[in-house]
Amino acid sequence: MIAPTPPMGWNSWNTFGREIDEDVIRSTADAMVATGLKDAGYRYVCIDDLWEADERVDGRLTWDAAKFPGGIPALADYIHGLGLKFGIYSCSGTHTCAGKPASFGYEEIDAQTFADWGVDFLKYDHCYFPPGADPRAAYARMGQALRMTGRPILYSLCNWGGNEVWTWGAAVGGHMWRTGGDINDSWESIVHLGFRRQKDLHPWGRPNGWNDPDMLVVGMRNRGNVAREGCSEDEYRSHFALWCLQAAPLMIGCDVRDMDPATKAILLNRDLIAVNQDPLGVQAACLGSHRRCEVWARPLANGDLAVGFFNLHEKPQGNVPVAWEQLHLHDRRPCRLTDLGSGEDLGTHSRVFTSGSLAPHACQVVRISPQRT
Ligand code: GLA
Repeated sequence: MIAPTPPMGWNSWNTFGREIDEDVIRSTADAMVATGLKDAGYRYVCIDDLWEADERVDGRLTWDAAKFPGGIPALADYIHGLGLKFGIYSCSGTHTCAGKPASFGYEEIDAQTFADWGVDFLKYDHCYFPPGADPRAAYARMGQALRMTGRPILYSLCNWGGNEVWTWGAAVGGHMWRTGGDINDSWESIVHLGFRRQKDLHPWGRPNGWNDPDMLVVGMRNRGNVAREGCSEDEYRSHFALWCLQAAPLMIGCDVRDMDPATKAILLNRDLIAVNQDPLGVQAACLGSHRRCEVWARPLANGDLAVGFFNLHEKPQGNVPVAWEQLHLHDRRPCRLTDLGSGEDLGTHSRVFTSGSLAPHACQVVRISPQRT
């Protein structure tokens, strides 16, 4: 299985957009090792759009030699040498979203080129798609072409949730599929893509096929390519916690060479990463909302549950109850609770747990461990 748990890594688009080159990618890969991101599980270093040369050469895609003078295969080798994996980008239409040559009609040759270069991950976009052509068939052609290379290549579909991709993404060989449009560094975007678009999609996420609400904006702080207003620290914490509960791919979008301590603490929260990577692979469902605080919960492989309380209100709120019954636990079952934000032991509870008070857009995530008798 290529993606038994949600893929974790970094992608160039959010911060760098068109300003990518060999040095940015190499120094990012170095920083992933030096900062402990690699040890925490972030493995894929992915180049997004605008790595391509303007024209094919002998029918093959090739790289922009001004940006990548050493070439993509050497860059892939370098990344592999650090124990990381290498991702690249193409598009199911005739051109990429930024107007570079793309893979429609060239699926087999491009898949083989990527395999020859040592690519481990392909993000496959959906701009310039020929009118009348069938999106599902085009995604299936690339899925088939990737398998035929014999190289394990993670296939990330990016058609922004079109044609209810979650219903057929796995059948065309996809390991993750975007469920909505592009994220930007704003709370509105997190609410739209994370809380709203994902709401009823939990039945479709599973090992080897994950719903993808888009890359993380944690740590962008109004910088980079997709910046809008910039989030507060509480908003970044809620964003990360929600993506972890939702078993979403964790693709970092900030500049990991220059992270402040708060950004590091969020992205390296091992308790939340363990929830995201839980082998049961069940995406959290929204259990309901209470005075604009939403409760999201998922079962974990060892019998524990992870529950998040999210304050979507502009004012402090709190004291949101979740009853064992809502979690399908017997109401007399004593459970030990741990706060996954602070690591604090919250003691033993029966029947119900009530969240603390939550600042605007803040969250509390707890792990509920039923005590065996
Ligand atoms: C689309 C995708 C983005 C990014 C850009 C690149 O908008 O959704 O994630 O890949 O294209 O051009």
